[in-house]
Amino acid sequence: MLPVPEIRSLTPLVSRLAGTGSGLPERVVTNADLVADLAARGIETSDEWIVTRTGIRQRHLAEPGVGTTDLAERAARAALAAAGMGTDTIDLIIVATSTPDQVFPSTACSVQGRLGAAGAAAFDVQAACSGFVYALAIADALIRGGAHRRALIIGAEVYSRVLDWNDRGTCVLFGDGAGAVVLEAGSAPGILGCRMHADGARGDILSVAGRLNQGAAVGDPFLRMDGKAVFKLAVDVLESSAREVLALADMDPSRVDWLIPHQANVRILSATAKRLGLAAERVVVTVDRHGNTSAASVPLALDAALADGRVRPGQHLLLQGVGGGFTWGSVLLRT
Ligand code: ACO
Repeated sequence: MLPVPEIRSLTPLVSRLAGTGSGLPERVVTNADLVADLAARGIETSDEWIVTRTGIRQRHLAEPGVGTTDLAERAARAALAAAGMGTDTIDLIIVATSTPDQVFPSTACSVQGRLGAAGAAAFDVQAACSGFVYALAIADALIRGGAHRRALIIGAEVYSRVLDWNDRGTCVLFGDGAGAVVLEAGSAPGILGCRMHADGARGDILSVAGRLNQGAAVGDPFLRMDGKAVFKLAVDVLESSAREVLALADMDPSRVDWLIPHQANVRILSATAKRLGLAAERVVVTVDRHGNTSAASVPLALDAALADGRVRPGQHLLLQGVGGGFTWGSVLLRT
């Protein structure tokens, strides 16, 4: 006799946000600290330049010996605690990172091992600063398709290790950290739509080009950026991607309660909100406190806005990523 196939529920599955968490290094470096440190090495910058051009006032930097996996684990445990779930209930772990502690095993596998979530599928996504939004879109598809039921999605980075600390044009911009969310299958409204995009022809405007070869780092191991080109492209694609994902849900931008974009630079956030006709008060901003934490920035901002009570049940959130690759994407969700 043939085995009886499993009968799936006829109610369509939706990915619901069950909890969020943050993992920031304890060490806070203010602009004043950084200005003094750079001055001691003959590099001139100022708090005024950094704040006016970027909105950044401080960043967290990982202490020696603290890696991406450590921060990812902290954020994961916090998200699981917020969701009231044990590690054994997770069946999928995705880590978005472009600064892993090693080539492989993936950071997701290392985190899975530390959490003791044996058996859960685990892999990394590399889409630079868009990584978390990409990972969320992938997890949503896997949950809606019925392949997985509870996913831990983490954005985790230690960009301080790939910055050229002699390049004042980039070293003042970034910070380290991790943010995580737990997504679970449900029937209540959760993720309403996702879209991901890339343009590999623009890979040169933001990159870490170096690689490992025959036991040595080959090529430039530091982050390089054409700031003006990134600025212009970021604002264009954030607007188009917001409109695209809102159209999927047949929603006008005015119905977005909170815009939670990748925290690259406060001027990019303001320009995006303006183009969408959203008041500045509806943009969650954490770049002032965290700097640009790449794939960690969106979940860190989401966690901050939930923790301080700004994000409430029944609201519409528009999460957006943009970064190296060039990559971008948006996720629209109802809390
Ligand atoms: N302190 C003081 N002066 C500086 C510093 C600094 N830290 N960095 C650069 N300068 C100087 C430059 O040397 C230059 O001086 P010059 O005119 O004498 O040559 C001057 O400031 C202007 O330099 P630009 O690079 O043209 O500065 P710009 O006005 O474009 O601002 C910035 C740079 C803030 C990076 C801007 O291009 C920007 O906002 N870009 C968006 C990209 C971004 O935010 N990237 C973050 C990562 S990418 C991502 O996450 C998607």
